Amino acid sequence: MSKERILVVDDEAGVRSSLQGILEDEGYRVDTDSSAEAALARLSGGQYDLVLLDIWLPKMDGMQALERMIDDELDIPVIMISGHATIESAVKAIQLGAYNFVEKPLSLDKTLIAVQNALRHGRLQQENRALRERVEARHILIGSSPVMRELKKQIGIAAPTNGRVLIFGENGTGKEVVARLVHTQSLRSKASFVEVNCAAIPEELIESELFGHVKGAFTGAISDKIGKFEAADGGTLFLDEVADMSVKTQAKVLRVLQEQKFQAVGSTESIGVDCRVIAATNKILEDEIRAGNFREDLYFRLNVIPFHMPPLRERREDIPTLVTHFIAEFCAEYGKQTKEPTAQALKRLVAYRWPGNVRELKNVTERLVIMVSRDVIEVSDLPLALTRGGDEPLEALGDFSSLASAREAFERQFIVRKLRENNDNVTRTAQALGIERSHLYRKMKAYSIK
Ligand SMILES: Nc1ncnc2c1ncn2[C@@H]1O[C@H](COP(=O)(O)OP(=O)(O)OP(=O)(O)O)[C@@H](O)[C@H]1O
Ligand SMILES: [Mg+2]
Repeated sequence: MSKERILVVDDEAGVRSSLQGILEDEGYRVDTDSSAEAALARLSGGQYDLVLLDIWLPKMDGMQALERMIDDELDIPVIMISGHATIESAVKAIQLGAYNFVEKPLSLDKTLIAVQNALRHGRLQQENRALRERVEARHILIGSSPVMRELKKQIGIAAPTNGRVLIFGENGTGKEVVARLVHTQSLRSKASFVEVNCAAIPEELIESELFGHVKGAFTGAISDKIGKFEAADGGTLFLDEVADMSVKTQAKVLRVLQEQKFQAVGSTESIGVDCRVIAATNKILEDEIRAGNFREDLYFRLNVIPFHMPPLRERREDIPTLVTHFIAEFCAEYGKQTKEPTAQALKRLVAYRWPGNVRELKNVTERLVIMVSRDVIEVSDLPLALTRGGDEPLEALGDFSSLASAREAFERQFIVRKLRENNDNVTRTAQALGIERSHLYRKMKAYSIK
């Protein structure tokens, strides 16, 4: 690890040199300044992990310097150095955002502990920031096809309003990504985004999950619990797979939407909430309404702003960008060297029907990043479904003129797959296929498999 850098700012030469001495003995890199002005100039250019800042300084004092650092979002932990007369200021400095203060005359031990704690705090904050950035990067909506561009435009318009959003689309098309984007681009982005997967919660529990319950409301309710509606107060509630709610629960949700208040299970007290509801479904709600599975009045309540997620096969031009994006993401995650599909492999990726949409594409690229050690991805690396040309076996068979050519095509693919499963080890592949090694070699030669 490289040495951590500390800046000491004090007008007393004695304090500067003694702090520099003890901190350097501990293995830190230390610079010193005698004025706030000099320190601020240095901080704007250099990389420091911690500042020790005297409160009383000749021209600009430590408090003003601290305010400037906060305004400039320098994000470095600061320990104030306080004399007897400046203790009150030290307390105020902490309210402003300083990490801690030490008192003159400086105690060696206390100062060192304060320095170690502040540095650890800074490291944690930096890690947090990096994690948050990674999480947010997972909510970006890739795609510049006309439909996706239009969708992004609509999100931009709808997000800052409080309008309820209903997102339709097949599995894996990005409904949740859109729901989160609407939240982060809304005026509620600082408050919570609370997700409820209506399909994943057993019917008996869903009301308690949504509205909370009081202690003793039912067997097992051993304490009060707040529900998702309340947790999302001021923020956004995402009702995923909304069509999987029972009709009875739908009636209760409808009432909350109408009245903006509800009662916890087992309670008579009304709780008021202000949350924006976003719902998503992969079902055709009109069909569900006709079949009596979904309340039409709830449908109208939820469906103020509809978004339709296009299936991936209807925007194939986005596939290359998605592939590049996911490969980069997984290579970074797994610490692998970056790779690229060959033109032929990319053609297959684009031509495939992707019944599982972006989620399926993401899974395939993850697998390729893990399994392919070379820096190019070839057609033979792709899952069988993609290399068959179409994923509909019957359609694929239609391309063959005779039984012999269909059998050969299948046989070749099958051998390629088995070889891959066995890490290109011919002996093991032959065993897996139940044929002689020499037989496999002849087949490989006949089908020009390398
Ligand atoms: N346009 C996109 N750009 C980048 N990543 C995407 C995009 N669309 C989907 N993803 C990713 O694909 C995966 C599936 O997306 P998401 O969970 O939003 O789909 P969904 O429509 O909610 O699916 P389901 O109906 O199965 O719940 C997620 O990992 C998501 O990050
Ligand atoms: Mg989803």
